[in-house]
Amino acid sequence: MRRAKRDASLVEGAVHAPLAHDSAVRHVTGEALYLDDLPEPRDLLYAFVRLSDRAHARVTRLDVTAAASSPGVAAVMTARDLPGENDIGPVLPGDKVFADGLVEYWGQSLFAVAADSIDHAREAAFRATVEYEDLPAILTIEQALAHGSFVLPTQVLRRGAPSKAIARASRRLSGRLAIGGQEHFYLEGQVAMAVPREGGGMLVHSSTQAPSEVQHLVAKVLGLAASAVTVEVRRMGGAFGGKETQAAPVACVAALLARRTGRPVKLRLDRDDDMIFTGKRHDFTAEWEVGFDDEGRIRGLELVLASRCGFSPDLSGAINDRAMLHADNCYYLEDVSITSHRCKTNTVSNTAFRGFGGPQGMMAIEAIVDAIARELGQDPLQIRRRNFYGRAGRDLTPYEMRVDDFVIPELVDELERSSQYQERRRELARFNARSPWQKRGIALTPVKFGISFTATQMNQAGALVHVYTDGSIHLNHGGTEMGQGLFIKVAQVVADELGVGVDRVQITATTTDQVPNTSPTAASSGSDLNGMAARTAARTIRKRLAACAAAALGGKAEEVVFAGGKASVGRRSIDFADLATLAHRERVSLSATGFYRTPRLHFDRERHRGRPFYYFACGAAVSEVQIDTLTGEYKVRRVDLLHDCGSSLNPAIDMGQVEGGFVQGMGWLTTEELWWDEAGRLGTHAPSTYKIPACGDVPDDFRVTLLHARNRQPTIHRSKAVGEPPLMLAISVFHALADAVAAVGEHRLTPRLDAPATPERVLLAVEELRARLGQPALREAAE
Ligand code: MTE
Ligand code: HPA
Ligand code: MOS
Repeated sequence: MRRAKRDASLVEGAVHAPLAHDSAVRHVTGEALYLDDLPEPRDLLYAFVRLSDRAHARVTRLDVTAAASSPGVAAVMTARDLPGENDIGPVLPGDKVFADGLVEYWGQSLFAVAADSIDHAREAAFRATVEYEDLPAILTIEQALAHGSFVLPTQVLRRGAPSKAIARASRRLSGRLAIGGQEHFYLEGQVAMAVPREGGGMLVHSSTQAPSEVQHLVAKVLGLAASAVTVEVRRMGGAFGGKETQAAPVACVAALLARRTGRPVKLRLDRDDDMIFTGKRHDFTAEWEVGFDDEGRIRGLELVLASRCGFSPDLSGAINDRAMLHADNCYYLEDVSITSHRCKTNTVSNTAFRGFGGPQGMMAIEAIVDAIARELGQDPLQIRRRNFYGRAGRDLTPYEMRVDDFVIPELVDELERSSQYQERRRELARFNARSPWQKRGIALTPVKFGISFTATQMNQAGALVHVYTDGSIHLNHGGTEMGQGLFIKVAQVVADELGVGVDRVQITATTTDQVPNTSPTAASSGSDLNGMAARTAARTIRKRLAACAAAALGGKAEEVVFAGGKASVGRRSIDFADLATLAHRERVSLSATGFYRTPRLHFDRERHRGRPFYYFACGAAVSEVQIDTLTGEYKVRRVDLLHDCGSSLNPAIDMGQVEGGFVQGMGWLTTEELWWDEAGRLGTHAPSTYKIPACGDVPDDFRVTLLHARNRQPTIHRSKAVGEPPLMLAISVFHALADAVAAVGEHRLTPRLDAPATPERVLLAVEELRARLGQPALREAAE
């Protein structure tokens, strides 16, 4: 197994080179233009959205006359004033631009104001009168389950006879885990600017992962044809799934007000409003019963997942499907049932977030495997290994996809060695025996993540490439840049195809009028899909250029080599720019589109059977922590990651994705806690109360290695998707914390710890464990 080094052997042309992000310098100098930095058009108006302050209520009165006559106001719009439709649900109906008589969560939009300044717009919005008649609200998963309140029907994925297998097994365990949600906390919040165009059209600048979806929804609310609306996005200041569907309401409000006033309108949500108004990662509960043998091999499993979807379906169907499809993680489950309840609550509609339900499914199975190990008094790593997918007979997922490219066993062996896991476990035991209050814990957890949209039709992409007569190249594709480095990767692919340096490739904003009907940039598949589409476009042009070069230089078109900025046949060559000029003179087209659809996919969503994923991306992590059992405070002492990026398109970018994904996952499972009060009001709506990781939270000793193994599937240059999978490496931090808590009882009992494992929860888990051991509570012990 080879590891990626930043050495020359990886640099074949432009692909596989560890190039910096194309905007890296501009990001740090401030020259990169985010939407709110764009030059403001003349007559620009600023929008403000008034949010509801009830979780569930009928709106008995909405009087906006005082808002409309407030200083500087150009327009006020409510649900009644839409030229088109009010519903902008991305998959199923249920999401409205403005609440229409019924409020379904605290923070839902009621109406919007456009004024000559943001202060005027805000002042006006609060002059309107809103009266409500309260309705009973369902806020939590437990309440929703008790009332049978669901946004979508419950799904069950079953194989074999799990209850019989559990009954037959020599040992049994059951348990429950609560898994918290997560705020995206993109640095650039939701924002859009709509500019009316001649002839009734609309140009919308939107910070969105899904320009085509925004285009269609803007057209729908305006009552226009999609062709009359253009959506453009140069870059996002982070998205993380939060701008897959939930950029649309912001863009729609801006477009509606622009249409109404005939003037450009910008809507940029305040951070607090952004956090209150937009959906988050779903929080989940997992309840399970497992039967296993004396070696810790799982014989039967019944798992019940439930998630808080909020008031509308949004993407909850696909997210909960992905949770079910990742409840195996790396483990073979022969007789299994996975039930998934999609709870409807009077809270914000939860949405895509890096991992898209996968992390929650994996948390469930990892808790189960850990509980088995603690029950047997064995190293959890041994139990994990015993349950890994294996040879024929142990290689079918519960949804019956064959796991035929499973690098996990070797990858885990390698990480166990390189991280000195066994030596450190022994060292930790010695430390813990000497240390009454400070306890250390360690855990190694694996990740197997399915790559492809589970909705098969979304796995497609398009690209457009032009070569100009000076040999410069214009590249456009349907993918969006959110900081993940997609644009540089696709530029590398095109440069490689045409044998020129990446500096010759002009990276351009994503826009719906150049490449139409695109999927959102999501499911980590941005470079897999758009890289292939762009290569196809570049290849078409290369073939045409090869014919010109052969005619000019002699030889056959197939013999022409494009490299080093030249086209060559044997020792004769022509500069790429001269060739472009020549081709133009010969009246050869220098523009081409490219299209790609992922092969081999099929999935029956009703039966939960098929091949929803083209391949799996894998990795593993070892985390070591130290907890203070008197306060619950902790520190992540060391982290070792080994992640499989296939034959990386750009190891520098991928390294950043692995590090960033891990730290974001660590935040989810440690400090990031969402809190709603009994009225359904989000209390944690600012960085003062919602704690994302800071520089100081990055592990002191952080060792990240990319595994360099060609993708078995013929993906773009045999690379693997990397955007989401590393987030789940952070599950090792959660289990290291649980291991440190377990040390309090000398690893005889399984700690009861929910996510996020905040210091408060760690302390409670320590005290609960002490109580079970019959030890005095801490305060008494200290006295
Ligand atoms: N990295 C940065 N810097 N910012 C982001 O918003 N989003 C993540 C991941 N990495 C994100 C990121 C998510 S949720 C996805 S699905 C992928 O990037 C999307 O991009 P890709 O498909 O090009 O990997
Ligand atoms: N992943 C991410 N986003 C999505 C998916 C998915 O599988 N399906 C629809 N949107
Ligand atoms: Mo990522 S959650 O698929 O946008």
